[in-house]
Amino acid sequence: MWLALYGAIILAYHQFNCWYILFVIKNAIILAGGKGTRLKPFTNAINKALLNVAGKAVIDYPIQTLKDLGVTNLTVTLGGDHFNQIINYLEDGSRYGLKINYVFQGEPQGIAHAINLCSNFVDDKFAVILGDNFFEKPVLFDNNSNCQIVLNKCENLNRFGVANIENNKISSIVEKPDIVNDNSYAVSGLYLFDQNFFKYFKLLKKSNRNEYEIVDIINQYKNDNLLSYKIYEGLWSDAGTLESLNKLNALLLKW
Ligand code: TTP
Repeated sequence: MWLALYGAIILAYHQFNCWYILFVIKNAIILAGGKGTRLKPFTNAINKALLNVAGKAVIDYPIQTLKDLGVTNLTVTLGGDHFNQIINYLEDGSRYGLKINYVFQGEPQGIAHAINLCSNFVDDKFAVILGDNFFEKPVLFDNNSNCQIVLNKCENLNRFGVANIENNKISSIVEKPDIVNDNSYAVSGLYLFDQNFFKYFKLLKKSNRNEYEIVDIINQYKNDNLLSYKIYEGLWSDAGTLESLNKLNALLLKW
């Protein structure tokens, strides 16, 4: 047993390039219930999550990110015209070493709405990842966080939700801001939440674009001083537009 533990620590050192106390998250949600309108006409026939990126399906990449966190119990939210294709592809999850539950989101009413539908499937702390997000390297959360968001210094920050950092704390989170500075970071599509999520969701109202916004939940954690962040230095990208999908595909084929 000591040999196995020693092996796990050495492995963690090589994988994450640092000594790290292993904090395993068993429960996670992957959101794959959108319409994929920006990837039409391909999404007329194929679910966005199953489009090919360098020989894998789009959804295989976020699944790997969750597996790197230690996830064994995965809930997949489904919606849109071809949701059954995802079930046919992932099946019961045993191919990935996962147990998979499926939850149907009738209409894409926002990321926070999709997560709330999964309340019966996640206990304790849980990770959430958007089904089209790619992280080049494993990401680890801090084990003492109630809510942790993953920030990245990418190009075209004003396309994203942006967190501004002051004195090592998040001072504000703004959706697609006009002005950004050196202390501004994109909020990526990977999150850690605790059970407060479901309490906060009850207070949520729909936004101007008629969705339950994840940033409104995160701001409630912030107001209660329960929000922390992690700066992720590797490549992060979504695969939600033809441009980003093609760019990611080309990059991965070159690596
Ligand atoms: P988006 O890229 O915002 O939405 P989409 O996938 O429908 O694409 P488009 O904007 O081109 O129509 O969603 C990001 C991820 O979150 C994606 O994997 C789908 C998922 N999602 C849900 O599961 N439910 C929702 O209500 C929303 C808004 C998104």
